[in-house]
Amino acid sequence: MLRCVLSNSQLLDWAAPEALPVHVSFIMDGNGRWAKRKGDERTTGHRAGSDTVQRIVRESRKLGIKHVTLYTFSRENWSRPKKEVSFLFELLVSFLKKELPSMIEQDIKLNIFGEMSDLPLAARTALQHAIKKTEKNTSMTLNLALNYSGRDEIIRAAKQLATDAISADEITEKTFAARLYSSGVPDPDLMIRTSGEVRLSNFMLFQHAYSEMYFTETLWPDFSIEEFHDVLKAYTARERRFGKTGDQLNND
Ligand code: IPE
Ligand code: IPE
Ligand code: MG
Repeated sequence: MLRCVLSNSQLLDWAAPEALPVHVSFIMDGNGRWAKRKGDERTTGHRAGSDTVQRIVRESRKLGIKHVTLYTFSRENWSRPKKEVSFLFELLVSFLKKELPSMIEQDIKLNIFGEMSDLPLAARTALQHAIKKTEKNTSMTLNLALNYSGRDEIIRAAKQLATDAISADEITEKTFAARLYSSGVPDPDLMIRTSGEVRLSNFMLFQHAYSEMYFTETLWPDFSIEEFHDVLKAYTARERRFGKTGDQLNND
């Protein structure tokens, strides 16, 4: 913990560690357009995007951010060309192979939000291996939203409440949230979407109820540590009111 605080204060002289978000979620968008602009195949963009993932995960860990969630593959993404879908899962497998030692070294725990059973076997095997190897890590949780649909997650939780024979009186935000993929993980404080699109695309519909949203025109492969710092700085300057008035917050 002390290590996190020290590195944080060295890196960010404008923010106290407690002012930073505890959980940051990302809609990593724009890989395809990035490649197209260079006259390359979309796959080149995904490969470059995986370098951004490595950069941002490391930086988040250094800053002491406890939870990072990356929208990696939506359920809707299955409707992309077969070749692109296969490439994305091959990229995931090679990313896990390359990054696992450093995740272990950084004390990062891997977690999946989404339906694992429908993933290609090689991806499932690599994920299960990485989950097992990192299950005791506590410094940061990296959640990959994979084969993920926010609406489906809500319906799944509702079904689970019924299966668990939870009475209507016992259905609360807490018992409901405990049946989401994100059970045990606090809601994102900050959601960042790259590439200029201003929508949620079915991403954590329940959990983003009070998240601060940040949209940037930057395409995901170009999203830099400097810009990440700028976004965090903007976040610390925002007033999160949760329904109260500004005066109430200032008098608290
Ligand atoms: C995000 O980039 C990666 C995934 C959705 C897997 P895109 O592939 O959506 O890139 P654009 O939006 O086509 O530029
Ligand atoms: C959202 O990006 C999904 C991921 C980043 C994995 P998309 O590029 O699929 O979103 P839409 O379809 O443009 O909304
Ligand atoms: Mg896109």
